[in-house]
Amino acid sequence: MTYENIVFNKEAAIASLYINRPQALNALNKDTLNEIRSAVMTAQTDPEIQVLIISGTGEKAFVAGADIAYMQNLTPVEGRAFGALGQEVFRSIETMEKPVIAAVNGFALGGGCELAMCCDFRIAVPQAVFGQPEVGLGIIPGFGGTQRLPRLVGAGMAKQLIYTGANIDAQEALRIGLVNQVVPAATLIDYSFTLAQKIIRHAPQAVRYAKLAINEGMQTDIDRAMTLEADLFGLCFSTHDQTEGMTAFLEKRSPNYTGQ
Ligand code: HXC
Repeated sequence: MTYENIVFNKEAAIASLYINRPQALNALNKDTLNEIRSAVMTAQTDPEIQVLIISGTGEKAFVAGADIAYMQNLTPVEGRAFGALGQEVFRSIETMEKPVIAAVNGFALGGGCELAMCCDFRIAVPQAVFGQPEVGLGIIPGFGGTQRLPRLVGAGMAKQLIYTGANIDAQEALRIGLVNQVVPAATLIDYSFTLAQKIIRHAPQAVRYAKLAINEGMQTDIDRAMTLEADLFGLCFSTHDQTEGMTAFLEKRSPNYTGQ
């Protein structure tokens, strides 16, 4: 498929998706969301792809939010549908079986912060700026921000950020746990690929079960979450890669994982 608003590449097991509307600082409109959905579906279903990296083109913005020009004259029904579209696309990223890394190369505001938050974790450049400025536009975060931000940084900090609409820099985002690491801009993509390479050295199915256990466990009570972990742990023993991983260790050699 040809994309107009994103760039989607595949380098063997690692796919990268760049939001690419530099004239609007990569703001998200309906077409862009639909293209992201399509690329995510490809990344999910292509058996060769094991990790997805999401970033923005240009040096200034990851994503500066949902497209304000597009939203300006929406009716309530259209506004709800737009929010629901973004929610659905971002949820498809969050629930994708394979890890997704956000490489935050600049402004991650509103829908951009929400896009970063639906990824498994975030690596940012020192110049990155995070925030949920929606109340300053007469709206609230609508692509999952009211739900994911408190889960990531706690309700108090999320409320402060959302009510004040304040922007924070990468160091503050690091301090509150919104990003995992801050790396120089020149190394962001290489570093994200290095992390992806580390991930793909391991048994793919085990990584996927770990993602599922964490994501599902985070939204249920601890007893059910432990049962889920036990079930998925047990399921690992139905894979060839579990046998291979443990046999390779005992034979003092590197494992050859097949994803089976
Ligand atoms: C549409 C946008 C945009 C956006 C920037 N642009 N952000 N267009 N939607 N979210 C456009 C500008 O209009 C401008 O177009 C061009 O990109 C460059 O932006 P400038 O403002 O000139 O750049 P700069 O002065 O460097 O300021 C950068 C900025 C600022 C601080 C990031 O652009 C900004 O505040 N943007 C809006 C951020 C925001 O409020 N995001 C949340 C949106 S609401 P022209 O044509 O003039 O060159 C949201 C809701 C999500 O995300 C949920 C929806 C359901």
